[in-house]
Amino acid sequence: MDIYYTIFDLQKAILVYRKQGASIGFVPTMGALHQGHLSLIKKAKQENDIVVCSIFVNPVQFNNKEDFEKYPHTENEDIQLLNQANCDLLFTPSEKEIYPDSTHNNFDFNFGDIDKVMEGKYRPGHFKGVAIVVKRLLEIVLPNKAYFGEKDFQQLAIVKVLAKQFFPTIDIVPCPIIREADGLAMSSRNMRLTIEERKVVSLIYKTLFEAKTKAQSNTVFDLKHWVEGEINAQPLMNLEYFEISDIETLKPIEKWVESQCVIACIAVFIGKVRLIDNIIIEKKNDANRGFKV
Ligand code: PAJ
Repeated sequence: MDIYYTIFDLQKAILVYRKQGASIGFVPTMGALHQGHLSLIKKAKQENDIVVCSIFVNPVQFNNKEDFEKYPHTENEDIQLLNQANCDLLFTPSEKEIYPDSTHNNFDFNFGDIDKVMEGKYRPGHFKGVAIVVKRLLEIVLPNKAYFGEKDFQQLAIVKVLAKQFFPTIDIVPCPIIREADGLAMSSRNMRLTIEERKVVSLIYKTLFEAKTKAQSNTVFDLKHWVEGEINAQPLMNLEYFEISDIETLKPIEKWVESQCVIACIAVFIGKVRLIDNIIIEKKNDANRGFKV
């Protein structure tokens, strides 16, 4: 795998492949790689001739200074994992390379309402920062396809809109959530959990999974209340939100009849570490039959 630190060198390398007619798949990350990231690389390898991965811990998407400062950096391990996954090109730019001046780290987007709820509501400025860096990275790499995980479902939805607005030829490819054996969604932030915290966090997915099975026999209100009770009963955990939203608009619903397919999204604090997860709740064929309204 070749490693590039500047836009100039990366683009020069990509151009050589482009001239040979190669298709380019792109996987943007913030490093501290795990099997979730590698599943995106694997899918990109299957669907493209050349795969570019970027590692850039994007300061403008952190609404919490401590979260940014404590974000794990594991460069050597990341390079090893990317080599094992046969990634072709790695782009690890400096902050100055991505944001040479303030015209590059500020841009006003209009995503309608999908960036106003859930993560958008609880992490003000976060999605603007994500959109700024993803737009910048897509402009630099100009891939045929770019890969994003459903673990960050709202981010994926926003990136799809961004691509439609600015890069209509780039295909945004969603990738399923990869989990640990106990159900915990893989995340770079899991590294920050203590041994004791790590033991209890599987409750997040367990609760989501049970919520899905309970959906039919509970109102939206009762289900939300039940989830809140389950998470907050664990002394090490603090629920930030549990929202049931339409899968397309991400608008939170109050009654099952409002949507055919919903996504249940959760954000939980374990000490100072904030983890998110989600699960899709699909109604089979005949709409609302069996769902308690
Ligand atoms: P990061 O958290 O490093 O994630 C990079 C990509 O990996 C994202 O598309 C994310 O959804 C995906 N991913 C993370 N954990 C996953 C899991 N357990 N299963 C499947 N996919 C998973 O998301 C970001 O970085 C940044 O916001 C970024 C898009 C790079 C912009 O800075």
